This record gives sequence, C-alpha cells and structure tokens, in this order.
Amino acid sequence: MAGWLPHVYDAAMKPLEKTRFEKIRAGLVHKAQGRALEIGFGTGANFRYYRNVEQVDAIEPNPAMAKQAVKRIRKSRIPIRLYQAKAEQLPFADNSFDSVVATLVFCTIPEPIRALQEIQRVSKPGAKLLLFEHVKMDQKIMGKTQKALTPIWKKLCDGCHLDRDTLELVKASGWEVQKVTSYYGGLFLTIECRNPQ
Ligand SMILES: C[S@@+](CC[C@H](N)C(=O)[O-])C[C@H]1O[C@@H](n2cnc3c(N)ncnc32)[C@H](O)[C@@H]1O
Repeated sequence: MAGWLPHVYDAAMKPLEKTRFEKIRAGLVHKAQGRALEIGFGTGANFRYYRNVEQVDAIEPNPAMAKQAVKRIRKSRIPIRLYQAKAEQLPFADNSFDSVVATLVFCTIPEPIRALQEIQRVSKPGAKLLLFEHVKMDQKIMGKTQKALTPIWKKLCDGCHLDRDTLELVKASGWEVQKVTSYYGGLFLTIECRNPQ
C-alpha cells in the first residue's frame, strides 16, 4: 500500500466518524473487557474508546497504517501493544483473550473463515467477539449492485469486498451470535458473539 493511503483513509473517514460511526464504535468497544485483542487496527481509530479492559494487543499487517496508529496510542489510557500480523495467523497462545474487537476489517481479510477460526483459537471459552462491518445487503438490487462493483472496488480499496456476507461467515465458523444491530438500511452491522467452546 502506498504511504499516502493511511492519510487518505483517515481524511475519508472523518465525516463518517463525526456522525453515527463515532457512537457505534464507542458503544461496541466499551463492551470489551479483560485482555483484549484488536484485529486490523488500521490507523487506530478505536484506541480511544477502550475503557473496561486491562490491556489491548492489536494486530495489523500493514506497517504504513500502523505508523499513524502510534500517535493515537499516546492519547489512550489503556496499555496497547502493536504487532505486525494477519488475522489468519495470530502470534498468540490458545485461550489468551477475553474480548476481540474488529471494525471494518472482515471486508478485506483474504481468508475470513480461517481468520474467524484463528480468533476462536486464541479466545478463552465464553470470550466476546465484537464486530462492526459493512456487509452484503439483503435488499436484492443493492446486493446485486454490491456484487457487480466488488471487482473494481477491490482494486481501488486495498482488497475490500463490498459483497461480503460477514454474518453468515461468522455463523459458519462456529461462533455463537448473540446480538445483531443494523445501521444505514443494513449496509453496516454490529455483530456481538460469544465463543461457545
Ligand atoms: C478499512 S481498514 C479498517 C481499519 C480500522 N479497523 C478501522 O476501523 O478504521 C481495514 C484494515 O484491515 C487490514 N487487514 C487487511 N488484511 C488483513 C488481515 N489478513 N488480517 C488483519 N487485518 C487485515 C488492513 O491493513 C486495514 O488496516
């Protein structure tokens, strides 16, 4: 990824963050507790919302994104440790985490089922998985439009799939879905899960 892209990402997100996104992120991240893992932290947009955790281990494969995030760590009241890693191969022992947070990430992860299983491996029994994702919409015409746009969108937006059905992937990978909340007509979902193992 080009070095300028993290700055473009932050600038593009600013109007959205000022509106409902800020509230959605805060509401979701406040639910994390104990030892937390964040997947694909990007420029660190969630870091300031952690309240009820002991520490956060945060992974991101792209060092250009991580550079921006370092500035945000200074504003956080919680200890946050950064790792360069992919969700499909996490550098942590089994049963390590009480909560896992991922926002706007599962659209981009190349092997989402493998990632969800890997997250389950490092999660304690009963751990929470807290997701905020844009997803394939149920509405037929919108769903078809998302599918048609995905090949070009993927090239422009760092591998992002507009038509990813993250809720179905989560269910298929063995997580117990406890609560789903829909935003913007079903374009965005928060998905709250529990590790049943
Ligand atoms: C749209 S950004 C979201 C960043 C941040 N979570 C947020 O809410 O603003 C998607 C992020 O997923 C990361 N990513 C891509 N492939 C990944 C993978 N296999 N594992 C973990 N993160 C990945 C990208 O590098 C990028 O930082």
